[in-house]
Amino acid sequence: MGARREDTIDDLHAGKAKYSNIFNYPTVSWADIGAIGWLVDGAAIQNQVMLTRTSYGPYSRAMVKICKEESFHQRQGYEIILHLANGTPEQKKMAQDSLNRWWWPSLMMFGPSDKNSTHSQQSLAWKIKRQGNDELRQEFIDKTVPQAEFANLTIPDPDLKWNEERGSYDFGEIDWNEFMNVIKGNGPMNKSRIDARKAAKDNGAWVREAANAYHNKKKKRAEANQSAA
Ligand SMILES: [Fe+2]
Repeated sequence: MGARREDTIDDLHAGKAKYSNIFNYPTVSWADIGAIGWLVDGAAIQNQVMLTRTSYGPYSRAMVKICKEESFHQRQGYEIILHLANGTPEQKKMAQDSLNRWWWPSLMMFGPSDKNSTHSQQSLAWKIKRQGNDELRQEFIDKTVPQAEFANLTIPDPDLKWNEERGSYDFGEIDWNEFMNVIKGNGPMNKSRIDARKAAKDNGAWVREAANAYHNKKKKRAEANQSAA
C-alpha cells in the first residue's frame, strides 16, 4: 500500500516484484483457453469468494463484482472443454492434453501448505484471509474432479482417490520445487512474459508523450483565454 504505480511497474520489469506462478506457463492450443478459464479462473475464484469476506472493506466490496465476472470466465472455459471433450478424437486429445499441463500449476496457485507459508497465520489472525491455502486447495479439488469426470477426462494424478472418511479427495504430492523455481523467475515463460511487458511499455512511449503534449497545449490555451477575459 502507498506504492506509486510507476515504481510497481519498474519493480515488475526489473524482476523484483513477485506475481502469480500461473502466468509463466505456455498456452499452446485452443483447448488451453478452455482449461485456463475452467481451472485457473476456477482456482482464482476459490480465493476470491473467500475474499468477499475479508476484513479490509474496500477489497471485500470490490471482490463481489470481480467474482461475478470471474465466474463467467470459469463457465466459458468449462464450456469450451466440454465441447472439445465430446468432439472428435483429436479434439478430445487436445482437451486432455491441456488438463494434463494446467492441473498441477493450478493447484500451486493456492500457495505453499499453511505449514510452510510465511504469511498465512498473520493473515488469518487479522481475518484478511478467512481460510488457509490447504483448505482452499482441497475445496477446489473436490469441486473440480466431478467436472472432469462429467467431461470424461482424466485428472493427471495417479494418487487421486475419494476418501470416504474425510468426505474429500486425497491427492498426490505437489512439486514445490517447480513452484519455487517459477516464482523465482525461472519458469518456462517468465522471461518471455516480462519481455513482452517491457516491449509494450517502450513501444507505447510515443503515445504517452503525445498525450502529455496535448494536455499541456490545452492547459496553455485555457490559461491564455483566462488572462484575455
Ligand atoms: Fe478471469
